[in-house]
Amino acid sequence: MKSTQNNVNSQNTFMGKSIIDHVSKVISDPIIGSNDERNVEQIKDPIKLNVLHIATEVQPFSSVGGLSNVISYLSKTMLKRGHDVRIFMPKFGIIDERKYKMELIHKGLRVPTGHSKDSTHPQYLICNVKKYVRDDGIIVYFLENMEYYEKRHNVYAYSDDHIRWALLSYGALRYIHRYLDWKPDVLHVHDWHTSLVPNIIATTYKKSDYFSNIATILTIHNMAFLGQDVDPTSELNFDDGKSDIPPLFSERLRRLNYLRRGILYADLVNTVSEGYARQILTKEYGNGLDKLLLELRSKLFGVINGIDYEKMSPETDPLLEANFSTKDLSGRLVNKKKIQKEFGLDVNENVPLFGFVGRLDQQKGVDLLLEVMDKFLKDFNAQFVLIGSGDHGLKKLAEKLAKKYKNKVGVHPYPNFTLPKLVFGGADIMLMPSRFEPCGIVQMEAMRYGAIPIVRATGGLDDTVEDFDPVDLTGTGFKFKDFDGWSLYGQMVRAAETYRNKETWKQLQINAMSADFSWNSVAGKYYNLYSKAIHFKKEGYVHGALIE
Ligand code: GLC
Repeated sequence: MKSTQNNVNSQNTFMGKSIIDHVSKVISDPIIGSNDERNVEQIKDPIKLNVLHIATEVQPFSSVGGLSNVISYLSKTMLKRGHDVRIFMPKFGIIDERKYKMELIHKGLRVPTGHSKDSTHPQYLICNVKKYVRDDGIIVYFLENMEYYEKRHNVYAYSDDHIRWALLSYGALRYIHRYLDWKPDVLHVHDWHTSLVPNIIATTYKKSDYFSNIATILTIHNMAFLGQDVDPTSELNFDDGKSDIPPLFSERLRRLNYLRRGILYADLVNTVSEGYARQILTKEYGNGLDKLLLELRSKLFGVINGIDYEKMSPETDPLLEANFSTKDLSGRLVNKKKIQKEFGLDVNENVPLFGFVGRLDQQKGVDLLLEVMDKFLKDFNAQFVLIGSGDHGLKKLAEKLAKKYKNKVGVHPYPNFTLPKLVFGGADIMLMPSRFEPCGIVQMEAMRYGAIPIVRATGGLDDTVEDFDPVDLTGTGFKFKDFDGWSLYGQMVRAAETYRNKETWKQLQINAMSADFSWNSVAGKYYNLYSKAIHFKKEGYVHGALIE
């Protein structure tokens, strides 16, 4: 289904039904739109929705973390289910226009900065809008600005990120409002970066008819980030979220709690797992927003992410040395040997091979992992490979471990797109001892490829991994509760012992590989969320309660 240009006036009807009529049905009947079928082609949702994502990173154009996967695959799956899904994002300098041939569709978009004529700062920033149709049919609008996107090599980590993302939010809204011959039913924003969007709609566009029936949904992928320079414990710089958004170049904008504002003003808020949605209601995980979330919990939901079953298939993946399936797992041993050779480890199919793939940072518990692995390798005959970039100190620690256990430990502390798949397809056990984990994607990818996860029972990890039961041979991995060395060590011993029993291990692998993490079952849940958001918007439920 390619970009059927929808008439703005017809946006609320589809096949003669109105979305609002349908929404009441969805709310009373949670089954509509969700099912467990993996075959994406067959499923169409009853009402077609126009959805616009506004986001900072989207595959394949810019990718830093899991967020870029989620937006890419969620939109692709929703498109297949019959919706018109589009994306609005910055045109970063790293996006190669020779590869992605774009059409300039708007030159000289004047985005107001909020500064007055008399100010020393500009009243407008001038941008262009470019359009590209992705292979899967998704239309992507790029906001082009030399200073804020084009000249930057990275997506994040600039001292003016608060300006860059405010510009994206204002720019997207101005463009769709004034110039686009297509209107979304739902605006879907992600993390603090685009959290100002619902706030701008509720203030700048308060009187606009255009926005009066567009629902907003905010997905929180990570509560740890609130804004550019926000200290949630500082009383002096506390942002209650209800004051006007300061102009773009004011110092106050830097300390604005973008995420709080998103939570306040969005019609619906969700996080990327049910477990994490419950956790952020507590002081420990709420990052200063737990009380607000508790107050607004009737509009808070948790929906787990999925993985792309077309790209992530051990039966066809060209990046594997040997393909395999639940019917014949022998290819895994070929992959295991390949990893051992690649990392200079002893080639031995009977030694349990542990793996870690992910960002080297505190969230992922890499510090704990390296400490415990050092002890474990003294006590057990095992091997370990690590792939991932990030914190310099953790990288040094990993390299030190590799030096100490020469033929047992291999590290690749750099970003890599091909090695992780080989590790999923050949390692026996994958480790994810995260301090917190909103969803986590690696554990799902690992299971799909028959690598058994050991996870800390937190957030999405707890939701997606079922602890192994040796009596009835159910479960998909090993879990531990407390974030401490002995708890992790205990599960590593348990996994290594279970691994010795080949038949039991095989059953565990089949269980893990058979679990359904396909985007299609997830997309059905998003369809329900979108329908709810439209309903909440219509009822004026959010703003009535909190914001005059
Ligand atoms: C963030 C979270 C991770 C989640 C991803 C995609 O990176 O840390 O847990 O899987 O977003 O939602």
